[in-house]
Amino acid sequence: MSYMALYRKWRPDTFEEVKGQEHIVTTLKNQLMHDRIGHAYLFCGTRGTGKTTIAKLFARAVNCEQPVMGSPCGTCPSCRSIAEGSSMNVIEIDAASNNGVDNIREIRDEVQYSPTEGRYKVYIIDEVHMLSIGAFNALLKTLEEPPSYVIFILATTEAHKIPITILSRCQRYDFRRISVETISDRLSDLMEREGQQVEKKAVDYIARVADGSMRDALSLLDQCIAFYLGETLTYEKCLDVLGAVDIEVFIRLLKAVEEKDVTGAVDMIDDIIWQGRELGQFITDFTWFMRNLLLIKSAKESASKLDLSKENMEAMEQMAAGLSLDSLMRYIRIFSELSNQIKYAGQKRVVLELAVIKLCIPEMERNYDSILQRMEELSRKVDSCMSRPVQPVAARMPEVMEVEKKEETLEDLKKTLPEATVQELQSIASRRSEVFRQLEPALSGLLRTSDVRINKEKRSIVVLLDEKNQGLLQNNEEDRKAIEDAFMKVTQRQISVEFRKQMPKGSMQQDLVRMDIFEEMNIPVEYDDN
Ligand SMILES: Nc1ncnc2c1ncn2[C@@H]1O[C@H](COP(=O)(O)OP(=O)(O)O)[C@@H](O)[C@H]1O
Ligand SMILES: [Mg+2]
Ligand SMILES: [Zn+2]
Repeated sequence: MSYMALYRKWRPDTFEEVKGQEHIVTTLKNQLMHDRIGHAYLFCGTRGTGKTTIAKLFARAVNCEQPVMGSPCGTCPSCRSIAEGSSMNVIEIDAASNNGVDNIREIRDEVQYSPTEGRYKVYIIDEVHMLSIGAFNALLKTLEEPPSYVIFILATTEAHKIPITILSRCQRYDFRRISVETISDRLSDLMEREGQQVEKKAVDYIARVADGSMRDALSLLDQCIAFYLGETLTYEKCLDVLGAVDIEVFIRLLKAVEEKDVTGAVDMIDDIIWQGRELGQFITDFTWFMRNLLLIKSAKESASKLDLSKENMEAMEQMAAGLSLDSLMRYIRIFSELSNQIKYAGQKRVVLELAVIKLCIPEMERNYDSILQRMEELSRKVDSCMSRPVQPVAARMPEVMEVEKKEETLEDLKKTLPEATVQELQSIASRRSEVFRQLEPALSGLLRTSDVRINKEKRSIVVLLDEKNQGLLQNNEEDRKAIEDAFMKVTQRQISVEFRKQMPKGSMQQDLVRMDIFEEMNIPVEYDDN
């Protein structure tokens, strides 16, 4: 016998087997038992949560000769012919490929004939949001006056695309994402029935990755089992097959981030890509890892329920202790935003790298705004802690002081930045457009057209001014500071900028070295002038 995918093999054939949609199952079963069946249903919700499954069950149940507590018996002629697909009473239409007016008109014509056997004709229209406007209108006509023996079940993942006129004629059921526990229990149950050994941890992992979809969970499980046929499926094997990354890698990555080691962090991403890991998966897993760190840090009791080995737990506890809550939450925010972006991103790798760099360099996110924002948060916190009774004010004192120093802090912050090395100064040239963007047009114009060099000894940037450029300056000192700031914001290094008079051509400025790209840029500008 050919192999049948788990999710097809284990499509529930009674309502009891449907997991995680109790609210829907109960209502439908009640309708069935009390013979209060509607004529139009709309099933909405994410993929793989049981819409088609329940629609089929319902279709069987309304026609079943001896239903058991609302569920189809599975043995009567009607149940059997539906199961075999030979029944004329259950008609499945995939609106994705039959979305025209004619397809629906066909249904309208057909609907006129009452069923030759059984009680109801059930039309299941899947992906109903794909219907054309004309088709929706045709459907509406049928929904307005359906014959008593007809039931429509419309299923969609995108309820917002269904015209209100249709919505208002249907009983609507919203299918929930299925919880990790429910999925994991179902998987364990099915594996037992299949006689396949699996580690609980493996099943939990798959349930988490499936993100609420039972079908996805079963397909993932299928992939893992197929790879290690006849063996016990362990957590490690799952990680391996699904291209997931081990906790140890996450810890190293987060350490690099904490040490602001951009190169190290980006190199690790490179490794992950080389190993052929799926990036979307990696992002999901890393986000989950950070969320667990957050739990370990802030909610010990829930953390004890985390499914982690003793070693991993210890490693994560250590990691969590070294992280501040603020930064951890910022990391999680950046990565959850990323998991949305990455789906649509063409250059997934670049988007991921950018996010990792953002993690390393908080200031890059919104340059100094983010610091101001943080200041504001702090002052709000202080206000709220001031208005509270005495309590642990002592513990909060550092924050209070931080706020009082608000004015200084921006300047202080600059001083805390590491000093730029000559090599780093050199490399700024490649990020010149970022620097320009930080500046007013006059000043970016100044930089664009000036000879910009490096003073190796003082490790500073020297802008050589000639008569033409000099005119772009308003106030030497302020402008110099603005340029300095722009460099610092982009590089997150302490950088000082000097203005110097351009010497006549040919004369030596021996202490200065060239910055290649700034210089390259000067060429076209000079052409422009001619
Ligand atoms: N709530 C559920 N309980 C048990 N199995 C489910 C459930 N939802 C989905 N499945 C499994 O996933 C498969 C596909 O589900 P399906 O009902 O076609 O999802 P949908 O129509 O919502 O995309 C089913 O055959 C079944 O194996
Ligand atoms: Mg479906
Ligand atoms: Zn039956």
